[in-house]
Amino acid sequence: MLVSGTGTNLAALLDAARDPAYGAQVVAVGADRDGIEGLARAERAGLPTFVVRVSDYTSRDDWDAALTEQVAAYHPDLVVSAGFMKVVGKRFLERFPMVNTHPALLPAFPGAHAVRDALDYGVAVSGCTVHLVDAGVDTGPIVAQVAVDVRAEDDEASLHERIKAVERALLVDVVGRMCRNGWSVNGRKVELS
Ligand code: GAR
Repeated sequence: MLVSGTGTNLAALLDAARDPAYGAQVVAVGADRDGIEGLARAERAGLPTFVVRVSDYTSRDDWDAALTEQVAAYHPDLVVSAGFMKVVGKRFLERFPMVNTHPALLPAFPGAHAVRDALDYGVAVSGCTVHLVDAGVDTGPIVAQVAVDVRAEDDEASLHERIKAVERALLVDVVGRMCRNGWSVNGRKVELS
């Protein structure tokens, strides 16, 4: 699992994985920065952690190679990006299947400020998307989405909190189904078995 922030999605997956019937385990947690709650949560859960910072490498390609090697050491069947605020490169994506969770209804509002962008645009409905990761920014095939109503009094923090509550449940559901049963991709359509 890859994180850059507070790791509440990670915490939800760790809770779900305590039940053996869930069918998936988090094997390690990586980040692109130190000192984040996501890594602290992983350490408290007794999981191996690693940090691979872009600024420690002379090129983005070298960073991608280092991240690929770190992740490969744990032999994941699936990489889950949850609040990981970096775009991985071609080498990484050739090596691992990867899903990302995003706090908007893609293809609306991709990028790092999705909740703010949706509010600024004035939408009445936003939500969250779990999608397969491809070479673009939040452009991969959609696995599942849930809508969340925007309230007149919402600010970025309140809307993001309501989105995150449904996002955690969606991510837990989707990752469990993918790991238990597999998935197939037909063009832009993802089918969970
Ligand atoms: C989640 O809402 C996730 O969708 C978002 O960061 C939050 C991480 O929360 N990701 C992005 O905005 C990526 N563009 P968490 O650290 O509590 O799991």
